[in-house]
Amino acid sequence: MNTRIRDYWNSVGELPKELIGCYPMGGGGVLEAPYRHFFELKHLRKVINFQKNMNVLELGCGNGRWIVSLAPLVKNYTAVDFSEPALAIAKERVQEAGISNVEFYEQQILSFKSEKKYHIIYFSGVTQYLQDDEIKTVLANLVTCISAETIIVDRSTINYSCREILNKEGYFSIFRIPTELYSIFENIGFKIAHQKRSYLFLRCGRFLNRKPFRKTLPLLCKLFSPLSYYFLFIFSWCADYIYPIPFEGGNRSHDFMVFKMADCSNAKP
Ligand SMILES: C[S@@+](CC[C@H](N)C(=O)[O-])C[C@H]1O[C@@H](n2cnc3c(N)ncnc32)[C@H](O)[C@@H]1O
Repeated sequence: MNTRIRDYWNSVGELPKELIGCYPMGGGGVLEAPYRHFFELKHLRKVINFQKNMNVLELGCGNGRWIVSLAPLVKNYTAVDFSEPALAIAKERVQEAGISNVEFYEQQILSFKSEKKYHIIYFSGVTQYLQDDEIKTVLANLVTCISAETIIVDRSTINYSCREILNKEGYFSIFRIPTELYSIFENIGFKIAHQKRSYLFLRCGRFLNRKPFRKTLPLLCKLFSPLSYYFLFIFSWCADYIYPIPFEGGNRSHDFMVFKMADCSNAKP
């Protein structure tokens, strides 16, 4: 299964850089990618107080969009992914941004081990590609990295009403219900502390991504950012209010789930 996922992420090299590993869920393509990142970053920084003494581990770092935004805020950033093309883009972005506190590991997260203690362990869009027992293996391998202060963040695609398995040619994903993830993280003594949709999906994204607008709108959006992002947000919020539509035919969502040690006396040294 993991090979199918790796082949999938290795084959997306023809996409614009900002879309590799970051498919905007509203269909807005390159228009939506920076909008999504702007609001997801704002959300994550609101719930996690990133500080200069922190070590961060990101599992499934993809094109490095989180690295360039978060690494400058912390002491050390470890980024793991098994997709060579995605990592190449991440490394290029890090170099362009002049960031020097990032360690990259091109490997399967199932085999990632370290003696370093991490303040934040971020599963950024990756648990959905792992079976339950595989997530447990990853967590068991990370026990040496966990202290009482460690915060675990999961940002994956979930389904609010039932466990959904997407098993199509060349792609596989498990959209879990939130309680399934709670119980997996509870196995290592972590309890849910925050859960909320990571950003408001763009409405009319597919329309705005059509040929006549595809080039000009992203440019205009960049030129007038962040005002343009707020405009898209207000538009999407109104559209959801006036004419709500189920997303991707159901109850899927991108949520941030923040887990903290339930009982600090369980903390591993
Ligand atoms: C949905 S993308 C998320 C990328 C990025 N974190 C973001 O939020 O934009 C998932 C990433 O996880 C990586 N990935 C999936 N399964 C993995 C595994 N078992 N080991 C290492 N990386 C994995 C893929 O290569 C891909 O880059």
